[in-house]
Amino acid sequence: MAPDDDLRQRILEGNIKLHRVEAPHYDVLHPEEFNWFEQHRLRRDIARIAAQLPANALALDIGCGTGNILLKLIALGINVSGVDISEDMVRLLKSRIPTHSEGKVNLTVQNVEDFLVGCAKEYDLVTASSVLHHMPDYISTLRSAIGRIKPGGWLYIVHEPTKNALGPDTFPRKILWQMDNLAYNLLHARSIPQTEARDYRMSDYQLYHGFDEDKVARECRGLGLDVVSFVRYSSTMRTGLSCWIDSSVLGSRRHFSLIAHKKR
Ligand SMILES: C[S@@+](CC[C@H](N)C(=O)[O-])C[C@H]1O[C@@H](n2cnc3c(N)ncnc32)[C@H](O)[C@@H]1O
Repeated sequence: MAPDDDLRQRILEGNIKLHRVEAPHYDVLHPEEFNWFEQHRLRRDIARIAAQLPANALALDIGCGTGNILLKLIALGINVSGVDISEDMVRLLKSRIPTHSEGKVNLTVQNVEDFLVGCAKEYDLVTASSVLHHMPDYISTLRSAIGRIKPGGWLYIVHEPTKNALGPDTFPRKILWQMDNLAYNLLHARSIPQTEARDYRMSDYQLYHGFDEDKVARECRGLGLDVVSFVRYSSTMRTGLSCWIDSSVLGSRRHFSLIAHKKR
């Protein structure tokens, strides 16, 4: 159900507020995104998609944040537009763009819903990493994003929650959590920044209110996309090894990634 105006506003403001606090240390505060397990998946998927793109391809990274996806795309020589509601996250991203790539990047600070409504361009690739579950109405944002993909273009969604994201922990998983925590604290004790209290209930609204990965895949298919990869896995822990064990040995399925191709 679409949220009313008041709820929509609270979700948008919750995101601006949270990411103002997180921006200076974002990559360190989110090891579940930046550990080798998740980064390996991202690099592999992006390389797979990039190999299909035409020369001079234009990509759009929605909720680009500090550049997790965007920086990988420009490193491959792809022209990228990034949009993010958080001025603080975009400021940090700007400082990371190599001078020789500045001409290939276009950054906008805006609510992505408004950006997409006012957008006349079409893209060879649209990416969304850990961002749809921050949207007041993720299906509506997904539809608008798909509307901006060229025929023959690509959609990449990654690090989004499955229906099982907040499911109960089994005993082996509880043990793994403890070991992960211990290993992370031993390895990074000195570099974990102290920030003011962070509240994810509004910013990550859809995580707590039934984000449904099957709906995302259905919507893609309904809008003329071929879903070429739809993978459930888990990257909720801090170290890459724990995420690998959680996904490959314990079979946890708390995240998903999706690659889809728009028919010509
Ligand atoms: C969890 S971070 C992910 C950032 C980046 N994509 C990554 O993979 O690290 C979510 C990002 O979405 C942005 N965001 C949240 N709501 C948004 C909205 N309505 N419009 C644009 N960006 C939004 C946040 O500011 C934040 O940078």
